[in-house]
Amino acid sequence: MKVKGFLKDVGGASRVTKMRQELIANGSPVPDPKDPIRALADALHPGKQDFVVTEVREASPTSTTYRFSPKNGHVPVFQCGQYVNFYLTIGQSVLTRAYSISSAPYEARLADPYFEITVRHNVPYLVPDWFLENLKVGAEITAALPFGQFYYEPLRDSRNIVGLAGGSGITPFASMAKEIAHGTLDVNLTVIYGSVKHTDIVCGDELQAAADACPDKIRLVHVMSEDEEWDGEKGFVTREIIEKYSPEDPSYFFCGPPVMYFMIEKTMKAIGVPRRRFRHDAAAQPKVTLIPSFPEDQIGKEYQLTVVRGIHEDVIPAKADEPVAVALERAGIPIDTHCRGGKCGYCRSQLLAGDIFVSPVNDGRRAMDKEFGWFHACSAYPVSDLRIKIPIM
Ligand code: FES
Repeated sequence: MKVKGFLKDVGGASRVTKMRQELIANGSPVPDPKDPIRALADALHPGKQDFVVTEVREASPTSTTYRFSPKNGHVPVFQCGQYVNFYLTIGQSVLTRAYSISSAPYEARLADPYFEITVRHNVPYLVPDWFLENLKVGAEITAALPFGQFYYEPLRDSRNIVGLAGGSGITPFASMAKEIAHGTLDVNLTVIYGSVKHTDIVCGDELQAAADACPDKIRLVHVMSEDEEWDGEKGFVTREIIEKYSPEDPSYFFCGPPVMYFMIEKTMKAIGVPRRRFRHDAAAQPKVTLIPSFPEDQIGKEYQLTVVRGIHEDVIPAKADEPVAVALERAGIPIDTHCRGGKCGYCRSQLLAGDIFVSPVNDGRRAMDKEFGWFHACSAYPVSDLRIKIPIM
């Protein structure tokens, strides 16, 4: 044993400990406002920001694209496939709603920066119709971005990406296609896009323009389920179609309605796609009739929900076939939601009494949370009267 070296180490460690104790004792209890790293991080990602609607245009007969420019400053850096969260008050409901960004990241770095979302009309529950009626050019809205992990990561994903999309789930791939065509994303993209009729194709012109500009890197395959006039692929996005158009060694990315997700997930298993090579966007909650094991006898029932927020306590009605988050929103009680698919944890709440059903499709709770009665309000349904504690927004 080298005693001299050992004593030197002990002496050094005790000096460092003393220095550390002095620094802690003399340190400020508040973060240094001039910390350049903090200032840079805040400048790049300022949390909530105010944006102005600077363009509204048709993306298809059944969908609209909205362009948002920052009221002050810049658009935070984002990646193709990430989403933006809007903060809205509609009637007495206080809502947050997430939308995938349909514009490309390079468009957020132009001299007049912006980002865009594309919204399908007539989707149930308030928001798309509210956008249609209220978001005219010049309107202001509060939003935060970016969020989500649904983007190409070279350390994890193959450069041969197959985007499997349905309905407005095309928007992350529209963003990706535009970024590839601009020369700032070096991947090969095959998009297999399921629609009912060709008139339902969302962002069709933008996708085609990107594919025409970059034919060696972008391939579009449209599949129509009910379109007699269509002379391309017909039916659903099946295993045969996926295998027919898949390149060598692909990574599959899925974004679309929950019912399509169930079909695609089965197909991925049947083809033998490794789990790491199948990525999907956080799916919003499907109708309860589509959730495996949802207790049928609960459909149509209503319970009493006692909501504890700090020193406040409210008692509101909650339908058994709607997530707890929706009951809160209907009652005007703010709950921060982002993914609305059980994954991000922003709506994490505590169950104090009663029973809930948690959708196995979107159960993103940690093991310890399950053990100690924490749940995600966006993916849990009341099956008795409940008493819950939610975070204060
Ligand atoms: S909003 Fe993401 S887990 Fe509930």
